[in-house]
Amino acid sequence: MVLPGSLSVGQHHDKIMKEAPFLVIAVDGGAASGKSTTSRAVAEELDLLYVDTGSYYRAITAAALQDGLNPDAPGALQAFLQKLRLHTEIDGRDARICVNGRRIAPDELRAAAVNRNVSRFAARPELRQSVLAQQRHQVAVAREAGFLGVILEGRDIGSVVFPDAPFKFFLEADDATRIRRRSGDGEEDTIPERDAMDRERPAAPLTCPADATRIDTTTLTLPEVVAEIVARVRREWNRRGSR
Ligand code: DC
Repeated sequence: MVLPGSLSVGQHHDKIMKEAPFLVIAVDGGAASGKSTTSRAVAEELDLLYVDTGSYYRAITAAALQDGLNPDAPGALQAFLQKLRLHTEIDGRDARICVNGRRIAPDELRAAAVNRNVSRFAARPELRQSVLAQQRHQVAVAREAGFLGVILEGRDIGSVVFPDAPFKFFLEADDATRIRRRSGDGEEDTIPERDAMDRERPAAPLTCPADATRIDTTTLTLPEVVAEIVARVRREWNRRGSR
């Protein structure tokens, strides 16, 4: 069947889906700054797909370590990346990454060896390039699945992945608070070391974009941080008359 304007039903649907207003929220910040818990709660309030891009780097690191790869051996990494297949499975409102057809279990994603190596793998520009398209593709995944938007959290979402995102937040917390939060999760992690590597790498370093809203979560509760983000997004979104 062809609709006026000679678009097929499928094309017409795609056009509407591409042009309808759609919320994209970027949340960046250092390790254990509260990004994941906050973003998941904001996703719940605003009916968004939640994308933890750190889990993408973790999943690829876990797979690479399993293949015995070293991030400083570019030849072997290149061969690994050429064969790399990424796809997303939606689980509730989480976009879970699958690497070469396998969803990596949560405890594997947060294993000490992954914590130690993920920033070294994430510093490789060729690896980041392989993850970039998959992250951007989550907008289409979210639209297709009927969400009102997508919230992505990571290190370079507002600076590189979605530099035009209408909403950007940068979460911070002091080192002692972040270390306490992570050890409260029972996890062995090297937070300041990881942050230093993520901040100092030449490719897409951890940075607060100039147009992002900074929120220091050190003395705030989770509901306070979520309320601040949701209020700001609702205010601005309604002001634009988009919803
Ligand atoms: O958010 P996280 O701690 O799970 O992220 C794990 C690592 O992945 C982090 O140390 C750096 C890397 N990362 C990145 O380089 N860019 C992103 N957008 C997200 C994570």
